Amino acid sequence: MVKKVMTDKILSFIEEGIVTTNEDFVIISFNPAFEKFFSVAFSKTKSKKEKIIEVVSFPKMNTAFEFAESGGVFSEESPVYFRGKRVECKVTVFKEGNVTNWIFEDITNFKILEDAKSDFVSAVSHEFMTPLSVVDGFLSIIRDPDIAKKLRDDYIDRSIVQLKRLEKLVDQLLSLSELEMKKYVPNFSTVNILQMLFEVKDEMAYRWKAKSVKVRIDSSKDFFIYTEGSALYRILANLLSNSIKYSHKNGEVTIKVMNEKGKVKISIEDNGIGIKEEEIPRIFERFYRASNSSETGAKGMGLGLALVKHLCEVIEAKMEVYSRYTLGSIFTIVLSQERR
Ligand SMILES: Nc1ncnc2c1ncn2[C@@H]1O[C@H](COP(=O)(O)OP(=O)(O)O)[C@@H](O)[C@H]1O
Ligand SMILES: [Mg+2]
Repeated sequence: MVKKVMTDKILSFIEEGIVTTNEDFVIISFNPAFEKFFSVAFSKTKSKKEKIIEVVSFPKMNTAFEFAESGGVFSEESPVYFRGKRVECKVTVFKEGNVTNWIFEDITNFKILEDAKSDFVSAVSHEFMTPLSVVDGFLSIIRDPDIAKKLRDDYIDRSIVQLKRLEKLVDQLLSLSELEMKKYVPNFSTVNILQMLFEVKDEMAYRWKAKSVKVRIDSSKDFFIYTEGSALYRILANLLSNSIKYSHKNGEVTIKVMNEKGKVKISIEDNGIGIKEEEIPRIFERFYRASNSSETGAKGMGLGLALVKHLCEVIEAKMEVYSRYTLGSIFTIVLSQERR
């Protein structure tokens, strides 16, 4: 017969916390993962004979005891308290001879992921719902044969605007998932930064002109870097679009390109509404919109900067944000070595 052996080495690689207790429920052995649940406190006292109930507790602990005693296997997801620290676990308890085995699987990350998934689904559904119901409303009105042509045209135009909004949302979601799943196929080449900035500025002309925002590009010379051109383009377009969107009428946006210690820095500065300090750490989260956006009624889905964050990873750029509420913001991208 083959003897089953669990060496300490094997146990040290197992991520689940495993504990065995004797008939008096005193802990007789445990693996390193279990120790990790408590930090150091447990190791210092391990010479002492501690009962499992003195270190671990969870709501159905009594049921688990009874179940294991009667020869069954208790297995349930439950919060577990380890000396006051709460960990989301899958707990399994069963008896083998005189010894009771306790297995604690930390499922915190799994829970976080599950929550994020449902938050995401509800945010996306919400974003889809608004334009869909608007278009739905318009279509039922223009179905009426007696409606005036002018009104009909107006409703058609407004429906197109809503559909474009949906299209942009789908495009952003697809790019985001492509980037998050690392399916983005990068295409590196030498890029003329200044030329790209003028292209981005031109593309946005209808926006800054509509708000009478002045966009100035300030650079003493041409800069060339070897990078993923379309990623850099989208980063710049998103940042410039934000700086215009969150500017006041007649505001000013200044784009500076500098060389600092061999790195190329591009900063986009506006004198717009600014971001509250405590909200800055969150603006790169998908669907996050700071309170300034609802205060000013600026439209958006909170996906732009989430995309920017991922695109920065593609081109190994660093992003710096400086903003003062009511005064304005500076978004800076730091790119690797300049190409000569
Ligand atoms: N230049 C800026 N000035 C002020 N607030 C900004 C600026 N850029 C981004 N923000 C804030 O960060 C949030 C997230 O930006 P983003 O992901 O581009 O989403 P969106 O522009 O669709 O709202 C915005 O809702 C806004 O509150
Ligand atoms: Mg945006």
